[in-house]
Amino acid sequence: MIKLSERLTTIAKEVKKGETMADIGTDHGFLPLFLWENRISPKVIMADISEGSLRKAKENCNKLYPDENFDLRLGSGIEVLQKDEVDCIVMAGMGGILMTEIMERDKAKAKSFNKFILQPRNNIGILRHWLYNNGFSIINEQLVREGKYICEVITAVPIEKAVIKSMEPERIEYQYPHSLIKFKGPLTREYLSTKLNIEKNILSGMESSDNISPNELRSQNYRIDYIKRLLEKL
Ligand SMILES: C[S@@+](CC[C@H](N)C(=O)[O-])C[C@H]1O[C@@H](n2cnc3c(N)ncnc32)[C@H](O)[C@@H]1O
Repeated sequence: MIKLSERLTTIAKEVKKGETMADIGTDHGFLPLFLWENRISPKVIMADISEGSLRKAKENCNKLYPDENFDLRLGSGIEVLQKDEVDCIVMAGMGGILMTEIMERDKAKAKSFNKFILQPRNNIGILRHWLYNNGFSIINEQLVREGKYICEVITAVPIEKAVIKSMEPERIEYQYPHSLIKFKGPLTREYLSTKLNIEKNILSGMESSDNISPNELRSQNYRIDYIKRLLEKL
């Protein structure tokens, strides 16, 4: 039996019973194996761009279920899938920009799947900006602890019409959206407080530097006030 980490458990819970799924960047294959052995997903696809990673997944499949023929696919992103082939796509543990590139490469195919569960390692603001501007709605935001980090898990579904957000993707409003308050959980305060301290440290560094413009200082102060206002809403 597979025992998942808290992070992968949070992701697994977003896959509903009966939904088929593909795990893009599966590496060890633990998540699809868990969903299959617990009879949550009747069909799982394990995909990875790296032969070494896919070999790891294959070894785990053979060790746990030597008689089963699992569907493992070598290749980049969703190019290994047919349109509409599964209900649900998981991409976890890779960069947020890579996730946008994977979906951007074939938007029509990306929008043919019912649901994306995304756990980016970084650049989550850029990922949110891409989702909003390309016809996806974020239906859940969760935070989960992994070691000393708090990871974000986004669940997004395609919608008819993109809600165009014209601000720059790097804006703090995408990094820490109000939906974090809407979907607040036990880690939200700690998460935002940690981010606030990081932004305050950046400001201290800027203040002791000689070549920072008033504009840069103003925008750093804006980031700090923005997070403080979010914390007040909790
Ligand atoms: C850090 S591992 C994450 C493993 C697992 N998803 C998890 O969250 O525990 C990232 C995996 O993504 C794979 N990867 C990177 N770029 C990819 C791409 N364009 N398409 C598919 N897989 C990719 C890597 O080979 C690696 O196995």
